[in-house]
Amino acid sequence: MVFDFHRGRRLRRTSVIRDLVRETTLSSADLMMPYFVIETDDQDYKKPISSMPGQFQLSLKQLELKVGEAVANGLKSLMIFGLPAEKDPLGLQAYAEEGIVQQAVRRIKKLWPDLVVATDVCLCEYTSHGHCGLIKDGIILNDPTLELLAQTALSHAKAGADIVAPSDMMDGRVAAIRERLDESGFEELPIMSYAVKYASAYYGPFREAAESAPQFGDRKTYQMDPANAREGLREAAADVLEGADIIMVKPAGPYQDVIRMVRDSFDTPVAAYQVSGEYSMIKAAAINGWIDEKAVVLESLIGIKRSGADLIMTYFTEDVLKYMGNK
Ligand code: PBG
Ligand code: ZN
Repeated sequence: MVFDFHRGRRLRRTSVIRDLVRETTLSSADLMMPYFVIETDDQDYKKPISSMPGQFQLSLKQLELKVGEAVANGLKSLMIFGLPAEKDPLGLQAYAEEGIVQQAVRRIKKLWPDLVVATDVCLCEYTSHGHCGLIKDGIILNDPTLELLAQTALSHAKAGADIVAPSDMMDGRVAAIRERLDESGFEELPIMSYAVKYASAYYGPFREAAESAPQFGDRKTYQMDPANAREGLREAAADVLEGADIIMVKPAGPYQDVIRMVRDSFDTPVAAYQVSGEYSMIKAAAINGWIDEKAVVLESLIGIKRSGADLIMTYFTEDVLKYMGNK
C-alpha cells in the first residue's frame, strides 16, 4: 500500500460527509441586527437608506413592525441606533429619558421581553458637530465626554436595555460606564465594548443612515489606524481590565487577522461588526447580478466566525434568518 499523497477529497465526497466534519457553523443565535430608529410624529415613516439597499430609517411604529416580522423569522437580538429630532453641541438627546433610543427600547422590551436589545452608546448621532465627544477649539475632549457617555448608558439601562455598547473610542469610557451602572443598581448589565474600532472608510453608508458624519475633520484622533494590529490588543486589554464583558472588533471582513488575535489573546466573548460598507459592497454587486448574494453573504459571515468571532453584528441578519427558515 502506498500513502504517497494526501487525499483531502475523501471528506468532501458528499454533502453529508462535509456536514459531519464542518469546523465552523453559523446560527441565528449568533447574529445581531442593527436598526435605525428616527424621532418623528409620522408613524408611517420608513425611509430607504439609498447607500444601504434594503435598510431603512424607521419611526417607532415602523420599527415595531419590522422587528415583529424578524422575530417571527427567528430574530434573537438587535442593536438600536437613534436619530434624534434635534441635535446640539452637547448631544443632549443621547441621554434624555424620552430620547428616541430610550423610547424604542421600552417599546420593544415590552412587546418581546426575551429579545436581547443592545444599544449603541455614542454622541455622534446627537451632536450638531457630528463627533463622538465634546468639542473645544476643534479638539475632541476625552475626559469631559466620559460623564455624558456614562449618563447615556445609564439612561439606556433604565429604559430596559440588555446590553450597552459604547462605540465612541474615548479612553476610559468602559470604566466610567461600569462605575455608573454599578452605583445605580445595574451590576448585572453587560457592556459590549467597541474595543478595537478602526477609523474606517467602510462606515460611509452608516453615516448617511444615521446622519452622523462629522461636520469638520475626521475621527482619526480617536478611532484606530487601519495599519495597526498590535495596538488592537492594547485597546482590548484596556477594555477588559475596565470591565468590558464582550470585546468587539470593527469592521469585520478587512480585519479578520485582528479578530483572530483578539480571540487568541483574551477569554472574553468576541463580537465582530460587519459594517455598512461591507454590506453595501455585497448588495451593490448582487443588485448588478455580479455575485450570488446568498452564497456571498453566508461565506462572508462564516469567514468572520472562522476567524474567531462568537457573535456578529450584521445588516444581513434578517436575510440569513430567511435563508435558514426559522431554525
Ligand atoms: C457611531 C458608530 C458608527 C458605526 C457604529 N457606531 C460610525 C462611526 O463611528 O463613524 C458604524 C457602523 C457601520 O458602518 O455599519 N460611533
Ligand atoms: Zn460616535
